[in-house]
Amino acid sequence: MAHRRAFVFGGSEGIGLAVAERLAAGGTEVVVLSRSQDRLDAALARLGAGAHARRVDVTDADAVGQVVDALVGEVGVPDLVVTTAGYARPGWLDELPAADVTGMVATNLLGTIHVARAVLPHLRAAGGGTIVTTSSIAGLTGLFGYTVYSATKAGVVGFSEALRREARPYGVRVLVLCPPNTLTPGFEEENRHKPAEVLAAEESVRTLTPEQVADALVAALRRRRGFLVVPGRDSRLAALTIRHLPAVVDRALRRPADQIR
Ligand SMILES: NC(=O)c1ccc[n+]([C@@H]2O[C@H](COP(=O)([O-])OP(=O)(O)OC[C@H]3O[C@@H](n4cnc5c(N)ncnc54)[C@H](OP(=O)(O)O)[C@@H]3O)[C@@H](O)[C@H]2O)c1
Repeated sequence: MAHRRAFVFGGSEGIGLAVAERLAAGGTEVVVLSRSQDRLDAALARLGAGAHARRVDVTDADAVGQVVDALVGEVGVPDLVVTTAGYARPGWLDELPAADVTGMVATNLLGTIHVARAVLPHLRAAGGGTIVTTSSIAGLTGLFGYTVYSATKAGVVGFSEALRREARPYGVRVLVLCPPNTLTPGFEEENRHKPAEVLAAEESVRTLTPEQVADALVAALRRRRGFLVVPGRDSRLAALTIRHLPAVVDRALRRPADQIR
């Protein structure tokens, strides 16, 4: 069944924008939220009439609460909330800028929690709805070069799993999207910081388009069951291997010792 109204945090670019476009094309009234007005304006131009945009930084819990409360008054309670706001800054743990250590935790993990806390009372009062959080394959297993990012994304999985069980009696469904590498502005920026060993390890990894990720999410939303949404056949196989054959995964994902400077 199509969703009536969706709030998409991080919906001005990349995966979030592709999700917003798919939803809008299916007749959902979409509100995209992110920090930059320029990006929001560009997103609105793509989403067409009927879409809305609001500026908010998901790291600011009060601001997220205020924008959600205001939007509920202006456009109504959403029956779908998607948050994709987040970023990856790869690098060795001892070399990561401190601002990115706190920045990834604040955006990826706390930002997700702030959004869920802001929307949950409204969904609960309305009798239900769906919340989609965004993790990553790097949230299903730890990747070298991604210590802090993997921690935030594993945190998103844990948070979403607990919320799913807690909010079920309210009629609130929770899904967690775990994309593989996806060609987005954020991924291009991430690539600028990848250590050579990470780039080499990724050589055989297939990269998806944001539209492929959005299609996988929309298909998962149509199904009654399901929690982890892993777009792409290779990634689904990887997710199964991570769960059932951890020793194989550990061997495959080791950082090559002979390359250490
Ligand atoms: N692309 C990949 O390969 C990949 C793989 C696995 C998981 N993911 C995850 O998927 C999500 C989306 O990634 P993407 O590649 O589509 O990113 P992207 O191209 O950089 O887009 C990120 C979106 O989030 C918004 N955003 C970022 N920080 C925000 C903040 N503090 N508050 C509000 N909005 C914020 C951005 O707009 P503003 O900058 O204007 O705020 C933009 O709309 C992220 O959580 C990422 O970790 C991505």
